[in-house]
Amino acid sequence: MSSQTELQHKWSAANVRETFFNYFKSLDHRYVASSSVIPFDDRSLLFTNAGMNQYKPIFLGNVDPHSKFYSLKSAYNSQKCIRAGGKHNDLEDVGKDSYHHTFFEMLGNWSFGDYFKKEAIAYSWTLLTKVYMIPVDRLYVTYFEGDPKLNLEPDLETRDLWLSVGVLESHIIPGATKDNFWEMGEQGPCGPCSEIHYDRIGGRNAAHLVNKDDPDVLEVWNLVFMQFNRESNGKLMALPSKHIDTGMGFERLVSILQNVRSNYDTDIFKPIFEKIREITKVREYNGKFGPNDENGIDTAYRVIADHARTLVVALADGGIPNNEGAGYVLRRIQRRGIRYVHKYMNYPIETFFSQLAPTIIEQFKDVFPEVAKNPEHIYAILNEEEKAFAKTLDRGEKLFTQYALKAQESSDRMLNGTDVWRLYDTFGFPLDLTQLMASELQLNIDRTGFEKAKLQSYEASKRRKDNKEADQMKLNIHDISKLNDENILKTDDSFKYGSSDISGNILRLFNGTSFVDKIEKADTVYGVILDKTCFYAEQGGQIYDTGSITLDNKNTSFTVQNVQVYNGYVLHSGILNEGSLEVGDKVTLSYNELRRNAIKANHTATHVLNYALRSVLGNEVEQRGSLVSAEKLRFDFSNRKALSLDNIMKIEEICNGIIQREDDVYFKNISLEKAKQINSIRTVPGEDYPDPVRVVSVGQAIETLTSDSDGLTLPNPVELCGGTHVSNTLFIGKLILTEETSIAKGIRRISAVTGEAAVTAERSAIEFRDTLEYISKIKSFTEKQQKLKEAGVLVNKLEIGIVSKHKLKDQWELMNKEVKHALKLEAKKHYEEAKSIVEDYFKNNESATYLVTHIAMQASMKIVSELLNLFNNRKVDRSLFIIMGDAEKVVYGCYISESAKTKGVSGEILINKCNDLLKGKGGGRGNLYQGQGNTIGQAQKAVSSLNEIFQEGLMSK
Ligand code: SER
Repeated sequence: MSSQTELQHKWSAANVRETFFNYFKSLDHRYVASSSVIPFDDRSLLFTNAGMNQYKPIFLGNVDPHSKFYSLKSAYNSQKCIRAGGKHNDLEDVGKDSYHHTFFEMLGNWSFGDYFKKEAIAYSWTLLTKVYMIPVDRLYVTYFEGDPKLNLEPDLETRDLWLSVGVLESHIIPGATKDNFWEMGEQGPCGPCSEIHYDRIGGRNAAHLVNKDDPDVLEVWNLVFMQFNRESNGKLMALPSKHIDTGMGFERLVSILQNVRSNYDTDIFKPIFEKIREITKVREYNGKFGPNDENGIDTAYRVIADHARTLVVALADGGIPNNEGAGYVLRRIQRRGIRYVHKYMNYPIETFFSQLAPTIIEQFKDVFPEVAKNPEHIYAILNEEEKAFAKTLDRGEKLFTQYALKAQESSDRMLNGTDVWRLYDTFGFPLDLTQLMASELQLNIDRTGFEKAKLQSYEASKRRKDNKEADQMKLNIHDISKLNDENILKTDDSFKYGSSDISGNILRLFNGTSFVDKIEKADTVYGVILDKTCFYAEQGGQIYDTGSITLDNKNTSFTVQNVQVYNGYVLHSGILNEGSLEVGDKVTLSYNELRRNAIKANHTATHVLNYALRSVLGNEVEQRGSLVSAEKLRFDFSNRKALSLDNIMKIEEICNGIIQREDDVYFKNISLEKAKQINSIRTVPGEDYPDPVRVVSVGQAIETLTSDSDGLTLPNPVELCGGTHVSNTLFIGKLILTEETSIAKGIRRISAVTGEAAVTAERSAIEFRDTLEYISKIKSFTEKQQKLKEAGVLVNKLEIGIVSKHKLKDQWELMNKEVKHALKLEAKKHYEEAKSIVEDYFKNNESATYLVTHIAMQASMKIVSELLNLFNNRKVDRSLFIIMGDAEKVVYGCYISESAKTKGVSGEILINKCNDLLKGKGGGRGNLYQGQGNTIGQAQKAVSSLNEIFQEGLMSK
């Protein structure tokens, strides 16, 4: 082989991918771009874990005729995959070995009911051995050995096909279900598979090392013969057609072609390692594993690079680290990564991942352009999560060290479950991170104890489901004067504008009725007053912060649920979870920063909205009130009439324009007099402003405001405000107006969502639009009408933008009108057809005195009645029994002529017979009888029985 540098040049990662693409292109396959790693429309998966995921509807035979996949025969691509949760999870292995990743690219080719095993095997073999020129004696293949439990035979056909393309017989290995029956998840398409493995060493027969977790003998490509679907009941059902689904690990293939022993030694990871080194100044990557890895730094390099790739791709695709599902996996991944950076690279946490991200974006931008679409968004989320964890990491690690010491002294080397839960709950340490830290010291975790503590904590929080008690805790006038009388200093709350935790001294504790020196009853609501705070107390329309007060050496944790200010005293009310607090204790205060970020975005957005309202409706619009919470913002203003849709769109456009302009937000305390000179600022009459007063300005520095404003134009959103704000409008993300109503004469109320909530609102609108699209394709008008009715109820409840709702309602109206019209036409057509069946019969059978007929059309009582009335109105001397229906539902009715009645044909008997046979209900009197049922199956039998009754009746006289 040539030198590694030459190989890296010849088989650069980009070239390896390109060669794969060109090969399948030349075989007439179609390129289908990678789908998102967050599968928004498949709830059976946390992340996209294989190239085949997006084709699931094709395999299951559900593909919509309007889909881009309709009549797709064969395809290829590189799919972004994450295996860090669910059935396929490689998180624990990452960093430890040379070839597992949480994110990887999967090169794949597919046949949808087109070619099958023979071609798939030939294509892969030719590509590997003739194009990539991998020596035949380094390759091994496996085939499915069968499984009596699944009632499946060995796949000898595949074995023979490998022989015929030239695989050495001793390199063909049977494999069991675990490795040779591929399944997407607990449910979904699946089938026997055949893997191709590569021996990095060579010059030996490595068949016995295949699928034995040997880092030098690794799976490269998997060919799945998709034939079954694993149903929700666990059973295998044959798919309508047979398909090919192949997946090749891109990073592994590159390492093979570049002739290196680890995926991490390729040009995929090199630039990332270099960047890590540049940022942290740690020693260079040496590619060592396990005990040979000095100080664990190489492992840290691998973990960090892997995790950063996963995060960048997932965030670009709309993922967000949070508390549940895929979001929690992302949080675990980032927090693990952060801890590696902190511990092994000794680098301060704050903006590490966002500094590394550009290198990763650069690598992906050509093949996955979506990753490079909005880098700022990715950096912002990475920083947000990193800063949030940075706050507790140090303290958590210190506590961990204490807990670990305790465990090291115990005989079972076990970390106490309650301690592990505390790290999780109070310090945000995901369980697997604590597990990892424990295993570094050869310690175990008491999982049962952990689960117990978790359950207890959940039960406690269920008991206090809402914050009612904390919300109701108030200081009354006597309490306040008591504080004053005792010369308790007012709380210094200037730290609320910062983001870090602070430590404060407890001055007073409150039990709801009186001040006490100590609180220690767990699971009880108390109030805490300190000399200083970083919590924002509810004021100026902005909701209070939530968070925690902790005292590490007493294992005390207090959840802050509400914060109010009374005459300068900030009262933190909430629950004492465990431990105790005493007057004089020095504690750590920490507000929930993620919640605060949403509040900040909504507060700045309120200023922007106020500005937009004035720009669109005129400068005379007066603010009448506002509410800023984490979920939404609400703004009341004077205006005589409702806003037109056009104005709503204009207002949204102005707001989003300012957000996209990425304006910096400035704050400054200036004298009230000076502030009043800023012409765009209007003070609300009657409101008491402090002096100096805080000015918040979007997009323009305060100094330039005071001196330069010309008095004519509205320069930018500027307000007097003591609230908390984002530093740049970019962090608002997007603003969507969701409601516009009247709350009093001349006062309108407008609500909006921003950030994540705006994304969710947009997603709901898209989902509803898809529902309408799906309904539009329903063939049966009756079913369509039914579904539209349901959708009509739903649309009113949707929490989406006013503009989207308006458009969707219009679309709904149009569809509803169309379907009503179509139903009318259809009914008319059916009526004419039914009528001619009856008329033709009597025309062709002039002497006939009656007709019993089943009209196999959609049941319509209206049509049956109209036909019977045609006869009844003219008292026709011929009887008519009509059964109508083509599905379950059936309607029937009868007109009995006077002469038939006279002869003794009983309408009662006829209708009862029909009721019996069609399991229906019906009756009547005189000449007319009607009924309906739900069992069309017996219609023919009914026709002959009714005929008999007529015949008997008419003949008997
Ligand atoms: N779906 C198979 C796999 O993931 C082949 O693409 O291995």
